[in-house]
Amino acid sequence: MVIVMAPDATSDNIDSLVDLVATAGGEAYVTRGVSRTIIGLVGDVRQFETLDLRAMPGVSDVLRISAPYKLVSRENNAERSMVSVRGVPIGGGNNTVIAGPCAVETPEQTLEAARMAQAAGAALLRGGAYKPRTSPYAFQGLGEAGLKILSDVRDETGLPIVTEVVDAADVELVAGYADMLQVGTRNMQNFALLQAVGEAGRPVLLKRGMNATIEEWLMAAEYIAQRGNLDIVLCERGIRTFEKATRNTLDISAVPVAQNLSHLPVIVDPSHSGGKRELVLPLTRAALAVGADGVIIDVHPRPETALCDGPQALVEEDLPELRDMASTLTALLGRTLT
Ligand code: E4P
Ligand code: PEP
Repeated sequence: MVIVMAPDATSDNIDSLVDLVATAGGEAYVTRGVSRTIIGLVGDVRQFETLDLRAMPGVSDVLRISAPYKLVSRENNAERSMVSVRGVPIGGGNNTVIAGPCAVETPEQTLEAARMAQAAGAALLRGGAYKPRTSPYAFQGLGEAGLKILSDVRDETGLPIVTEVVDAADVELVAGYADMLQVGTRNMQNFALLQAVGEAGRPVLLKRGMNATIEEWLMAAEYIAQRGNLDIVLCERGIRTFEKATRNTLDISAVPVAQNLSHLPVIVDPSHSGGKRELVLPLTRAALAVGADGVIIDVHPRPETALCDGPQALVEEDLPELRDMASTLTALLGRTLT
């Protein structure tokens, strides 16, 4: 059961509800999003039905939701959400381009990549300081030094930062620099990490696990929401299939499916799905055409020297096509490019 609070509900209204639910032997999880506060109730539904929840001050609606993911479900919540990342909207009729280097390597490389992102029309800068690598011998990222570089580049360019956190113990540190926390495919079911980012007070970009069903992905989002954070953007980044011609198989149908099941914005990562530079622009076109709320793309000034994922990074010459494609498709779809 879920209580949707009115926009003008006060903290006292919310506290009274939490206390009331506790008297019925239940637990109430308060989740604050940009546009609404939702309270998820855990416990015996029959007990809650004896409470006159609808009559409580500040309550806008009380919903029974049958999907296992209650807070992120679109059931009874037809309006799609908009997530704001330091003032940059994702979702809500906007198309958002996020671009930057796969990994932060040096201040110069990061600034050059950020300038490339701007030339491509990106509103947000991506870049990993903590890299989840298959091999323990591969570049693992610069850690906090990389976060400081990102922060300097944000000051220089004005682009808010999206960066990955791979360990629950680092969430506070990374949130101190990041405007949006990314949870990568390998950590989609790292439940301690999901709970920690749910409490970090930053919007979260949740990538789909490479072996996860859409329902498992939404349940992972529910972990974040349940800890009080509804500012979640889902990212389809390709799944494992028998096909070897691409790094992962972009599950393009996951975009409308997830948008129908959840009110959260859904973006696509054409870089990690295709894994090859020549696939990134066609997959971006497909993503925007299918209705994704944005894309997240790797760019690098010198991909041949990149410490991570060089073969999938766009180069300078690709940027005008990306910018033109994003603005043309966005206009065709009647959306706004942020
Ligand atoms: C990227 O951003 C990941 O860290 C990278 O794709 C990991 O892949 P790999 O370690 O298998 O190269
Ligand atoms: C990334 O975007 O840097 C990344 C590691 O992607 P994924 O988790 O999708 O592999």
